[in-house]
Amino acid sequence: MKDQQLDRRKFLERGLEIGTALSVVGATAKITSSNAVAEEPSPDRSGPDSPRKTRVGVIGCGSVSHRYLPHLAACPFAELVSTCDIIEDRAISQAQAHRVPHHYPNVQQMLAGADFDLLVNLTDMQEHEHINREAIAAGKHVWSEKPIANSLAAGQELLQQAKLQKVRVWGAPVVVSSPQFAAMSRILQQGKLGRVAAAHADYGHTGPSWSSFFYEKGGGSLPDLGVYNLTTLTGLLGPAKSLVAMVNVITPTRIIDGKGEIRVTEEDNAMVVLEHANGTLSHVQSGFNYFNPHGHEGRAETRHTISIVGTEGSMGLVGYDWEPLGVDIATVDNPHYQRQCEDASGYVWQQGASLVDECLATGKEPLFTPEHALHVVEIICAARESQSTGRRIPLTSTFRWPIAT
Ligand SMILES: NC(=O)c1ccc[n+]([C@@H]2O[C@H](COP(=O)([O-])OP(=O)(O)OC[C@H]3O[C@@H](n4cnc5c(N)ncnc54)[C@H](O)[C@@H]3O)[C@@H](O)[C@H]2O)c1
Repeated sequence: MKDQQLDRRKFLERGLEIGTALSVVGATAKITSSNAVAEEPSPDRSGPDSPRKTRVGVIGCGSVSHRYLPHLAACPFAELVSTCDIIEDRAISQAQAHRVPHHYPNVQQMLAGADFDLLVNLTDMQEHEHINREAIAAGKHVWSEKPIANSLAAGQELLQQAKLQKVRVWGAPVVVSSPQFAAMSRILQQGKLGRVAAAHADYGHTGPSWSSFFYEKGGGSLPDLGVYNLTTLTGLLGPAKSLVAMVNVITPTRIIDGKGEIRVTEEDNAMVVLEHANGTLSHVQSGFNYFNPHGHEGRAETRHTISIVGTEGSMGLVGYDWEPLGVDIATVDNPHYQRQCEDASGYVWQQGASLVDECLATGKEPLFTPEHALHVVEIICAARESQSTGRRIPLTSTFRWPIAT
């Protein structure tokens, strides 16, 4: 509790330094630009008791924006100001669907257009780093889909740049925010599993068909899928200090909607073994060639996708870490799996940008940190290096741990 208060004070001090770019605004925006949507603006939630709102610009209006935009539109701490996509029709139709007053065909026009506080970056994985950099340079806070950057060094430069600009940067995934993550973390911190020896996590499906970037340089199954398990396991077991990995391509060509056949150049199959600081070994398996009888439907996946074992106990996460359904635990004192924490209490994987809005408005610190996201970026790059060199790769980055759930 004391730590939380300290965190909050630090956050607020930092917010004051920033000069609080945030504004207390109603949702009724002036429709002035030539690209403004001639639609009713979003409902006015301003009033004496209404919360502070962060003005949000969303860039990338493809598949995942259909999950983010409804969440942001319903968030009492967010005011949607603009949408942007290089496929302009997408920016227009998402602006119309969610009553966003402005839309733009590229990031430069967006940043020079209607003012906002937080950029929500939902573009191709290859585009995140440079768009995040441009947004920070323009004085915007950033919420980025994964990855924040394509290398640890580039990500650390972004954080440095953000510090100088007095803005904040965060990135997906937000798996550490779920109540199931909190329950597993508490079990480990309380020592209920004894000396923790090993962990396994896996996540895969047969791969997206709507965009080619998932399979091209800067894409791959590790930053798209493995990233969830890597974030969860390092979040639970602590930063990793070295790894060995094998990654390869199982399906060398794919058919992409509206594009035809493409060559797959980034891994679509990955096995990573991590050594955590206290000696626990964990294994993450992910890929785009995993037939699953449940398809991509998270709620239907009821087996343990994450399991952790120690000298006195064993636990498993029921379902995926991005859509968790419960935690099973068995110990020497009670050697039958007992299920707990079946309620996700409103946690959904697409809530990151809304959580950040709430944190910017209230001074709360989120549980996820950019340093943790960059540790996972380092792991992904090191896994590829391990494959190409055949060597064990040391890891240098770290993050605040244990996570105070
Ligand atoms: N689709 C999902 O279910 C899902 C879930 C979680 C996370 N993600 C992540 O979200 C991101 C986007 O994935 P997606 O599935 O929505 O892809 P997508 O291809 O459906 O959408 C990406 C959109 O970004 C636009 N875009 C690309 N470069 C741009 C630029 N420079 N400026 C403006 N717009 C640009 C594209 O035109 C496209 O509309 C990825 O990082 C992915 O890993 C996706």
